[in-house]
Amino acid sequence: MIVQIGAEKGGVGKSTYAVNLSAYLAQQGYSVILVDTDTQKTSSKWGELRSHFKLQHNFTIVDKAVDPTEHIRMLSEKYDVVVVDVGARDYARLSELTRIVDLWIAPTRVGQGDLESTLELADAFAKADSKHKNGKIPLVVSINAVPGAWNTTEGADAYEALKEALPGVPILEALVRDRKIWRDAHRMGRTIFEMPPREREKAEAEFTQMVDEAFKAFNKFNKGSKKNGA
Ligand SMILES: Nc1ncnc2c1ncn2[C@@H]1O[C@H](COP(=O)(O)OP(=O)(O)OP(=O)(O)O)[C@@H](O)[C@H]1O
Ligand SMILES: [Mg+2]
Repeated sequence: MIVQIGAEKGGVGKSTYAVNLSAYLAQQGYSVILVDTDTQKTSSKWGELRSHFKLQHNFTIVDKAVDPTEHIRMLSEKYDVVVVDVGARDYARLSELTRIVDLWIAPTRVGQGDLESTLELADAFAKADSKHKNGKIPLVVSINAVPGAWNTTEGADAYEALKEALPGVPILEALVRDRKIWRDAHRMGRTIFEMPPREREKAEAEFTQMVDEAFKAFNKFNKGSKKNGA
């Protein structure tokens, strides 16, 4: 399967999701390749940092910023999962890749600009369902880096706003909170799964719940797809 991590907005957590999702799936026994299609090469550089620190990882990373679509399709025949990190503002790439992906996770932050950008993106793609191989674009939205204290309602407010504005799009209920451990892990060339257990506990639980929910949506997309006769 092909899982694309993409959004119009920069800095919403696409590369963070891409590397940690790859590690999480590989940990579960899937063969995983991460294709970095972003010219910024955040995921590839993270991989280089790991080599520098002599850290092994259980999935492959390739850097393919030029014409990646056919390459990704071929890789999906060889690997259980191809995770694709798409750069910000790369609408052309999203349009092309979206036809072949099995799941598209769009991270968003809770700021007004982030939410508006997510709405615009989802609106634009809602009209393109017929272009997807199964007749429905498998987009889910994940609210990431929810700020603030335990009693903040920003995450819940963002969830409600997105749900109301995008009735056909699954908005994942599992919120991923803003936690320093994500930044620390990235800087150290690590996934959060490699951080000390007590420090990573909450971030790991939030992230894995989000991924599990996204994969449930993937199953629903498949059940509902034209290809499977529904
Ligand atoms: N849940 C989180 N809590 C705290 N920091 C986070 C979280 N998610 C991401 N970050 C941090 O936010 C910054 C941007 O994340 P990341 O590079 O994954 O975003 P991106 O969408 O890939 O950005 P770009 O558009 O530049 O490709 C990084 O410093 C990352 O460590
Ligand atoms: Mg990135």
